[in-house]
Amino acid sequence: MKPLRIALTKGRLEKDTVALFEKMGYDCEAVRNKGRRLILPVGDSLEVVLAKAADVITYVEHGVCDMGVVGKDTIMENGSSFYEVLDLGFGHCRFALAAPQGADFWSGYSARTIATKYPATARAFFESRGMDVDIIKIEGSVELAPLLGLSDAIVDIVETGTTLRENGLEIVEEVCPISARLIVNVASLKLRKREIEALVSRMERETRKEKGETK
Ligand code: PRP
Repeated sequence: MKPLRIALTKGRLEKDTVALFEKMGYDCEAVRNKGRRLILPVGDSLEVVLAKAADVITYVEHGVCDMGVVGKDTIMENGSSFYEVLDLGFGHCRFALAAPQGADFWSGYSARTIATKYPATARAFFESRGMDVDIIKIEGSVELAPLLGLSDAIVDIVETGTTLRENGLEIVEEVCPISARLIVNVASLKLRKREIEALVSRMERETRKEKGETK
């Protein structure tokens, strides 16, 4: 049987997933010593693919990877033609609306300008408030936009809050919590149901142990 192929978001989520696999008893030696290789075996039954977050979704949606590990932020921004089967309990952070300290973001009637790496998420948030805003897409270090006078506020990921604080910004409102999710290709779940369900159950059990839940 060919191994189940699972795409991991390179970086922290990759490391946390590999640690999870090791706790489950998988041999992750090849990933630990990967060098510049991007496709690696994990034990005999799994193969991991290392990709950027949005590409994890693309590979899973197209079925070239059976499963993927990706942040809820990327899922919210990039559609959902796949099953989201498990909250892995790591990669915790949150989406937040943030503005310069002391600015009264909600007051006044003029249209606000929002800078973000996540335009769909930002748009959905303001639509839920019935508020019309101008959104400007930024690729990184979004905190710069209000500092440079490009936007009134940002919608971005906040983890420790240090980047906001050190740049004179503060949270106006939390949008939603984020964590790493396990996603599965729709056809794979039909064709390789037993293997995938067994793996998901084992990952779920290990994740619960990590959270200190018994069961
Ligand atoms: C993320 C995010 C914030 C920062 C938040 O940026 O966009 O800038 O981390 O973390 P903190 O609350 O712990 O300070 P990232 O490091 O991914 O870089 P980028 O902004 O260039 O994408």
